[in-house]
Amino acid sequence: MIVAGTVAVPGDKSLTHRLLLLAGLAPGRSRLRGALTSLDARSTAGLLRALGVRVSPLRPGADILVDGRRRLSAPARVLDCGNSGTSARLSLGILAAHRFRATLTGDASLRRRPMRRVTEPLGLMGAHFDGADPDRLPLTVRGGALSPLEWRLPVSSAQIKGSLLFAGMAASQPVAIFEPNGRSRDHSERLLRSFGFDVVEDPAGWIRFAPTGELHRFDVEVPGDPSSAAFMVGAALLAEGGSLRISGIGLNPTRTGFLRVLDRMGAGVVTEHTSTQAGEPVGDLIAGPATLRGTTIVAEEIPALIDEIPLLAVVASRALGETRFHDVGELRVKESDRLGLLAANLRAVGVDATALDDTLTVVGTDQPPAGRVRTEGDHRIAMAFAVLGTVKGAAVRVDDMECTAVSFPAFGTTLRSIDARKKGRSS
Ligand code: S3P
Repeated sequence: MIVAGTVAVPGDKSLTHRLLLLAGLAPGRSRLRGALTSLDARSTAGLLRALGVRVSPLRPGADILVDGRRRLSAPARVLDCGNSGTSARLSLGILAAHRFRATLTGDASLRRRPMRRVTEPLGLMGAHFDGADPDRLPLTVRGGALSPLEWRLPVSSAQIKGSLLFAGMAASQPVAIFEPNGRSRDHSERLLRSFGFDVVEDPAGWIRFAPTGELHRFDVEVPGDPSSAAFMVGAALLAEGGSLRISGIGLNPTRTGFLRVLDRMGAGVVTEHTSTQAGEPVGDLIAGPATLRGTTIVAEEIPALIDEIPLLAVVASRALGETRFHDVGELRVKESDRLGLLAANLRAVGVDATALDDTLTVVGTDQPPAGRVRTEGDHRIAMAFAVLGTVKGAAVRVDDMECTAVSFPAFGTTLRSIDARKKGRSS
């Protein structure tokens, strides 16, 4: 395709979850502008409603209004987190500080994902958990007064970190966290600081939270999601010509590891900082076709690009030489076994790719990709291979594009809209 014009993507998913939850606990009416309204965001909104918080309907383009309350009320039904690990893990942290029982569940994918990583430290703080398998949903949490926590995370993870910080906030207790292999996204830290909570990193690398602040109602504009923007960047890099501007994207450095890797690969993506929204740097990305070369991605880089590995892997399949992603074992416990599925799907479309232990290797080719892709309902696998399907001569069939509704409901129309030839035909 030939790319052209300017495109926007939906609001940031990580920020939307966090802002909804904070608004739910901030007395008064908060307003979220430009927030994500996808299925995952609806899962968090649904949880809040079941816990007694009024949340306006999540509709694309409409502001979200949240009537927060200092304490949540006991739910009358099971809380369904759908496909959303962030909804489940962050809300477990908040529920740990509430003196009632709540049962959380999710879809088949979420019910396979590990939960002990949050229930173990929350249990040490004083919350109780019951379930047939203590590491899996469904789980019943019974919270109450919590104690302070010092905890080394088993893996760098913003979901675990956010859950523990939110527990400390909701229970007014200090929490100290150590992330073992690089800093995961720091949206929770930034947001808590904006409410006057002390969140600092000490010289030994511990993140130390002190309950010095107070939530109050707010009105924010949510930046575009860099993880969604990454797919448009990828399509522009693999295009035959043109240039594409992706506007209003969150550029928090703990999220933009994919841009640093693409830079090494020779992508030449231009970043223009324009503003600050919700305490986050925001700007435009400008991308066009490039001759790419393979690279090596090491452990410390992974947390800042964890959700972009599917896109980086398909881009690497069009680069000169080999690309190796080290220490990506976490991908096995995402919405699917992303590591195994990525390698299998790359092979299915004619690319030499292997997933061995926790390393993914992709060998670039200039043969057009062709074959059938199995998503197993994983939105990012679907979007990554749809991008690969835009390559000249490609014949990639993705078995399920509906799963993109989890994070980027208008993905299909957005991808078509950047194609100058299709745009020309439809007008
Ligand atoms: C998220 C954190 C990441 C990411 C997920 C969203 C968040 O998970 O994969 O899509 O909003 O905290 P981990 O930090 O647990 O790897």
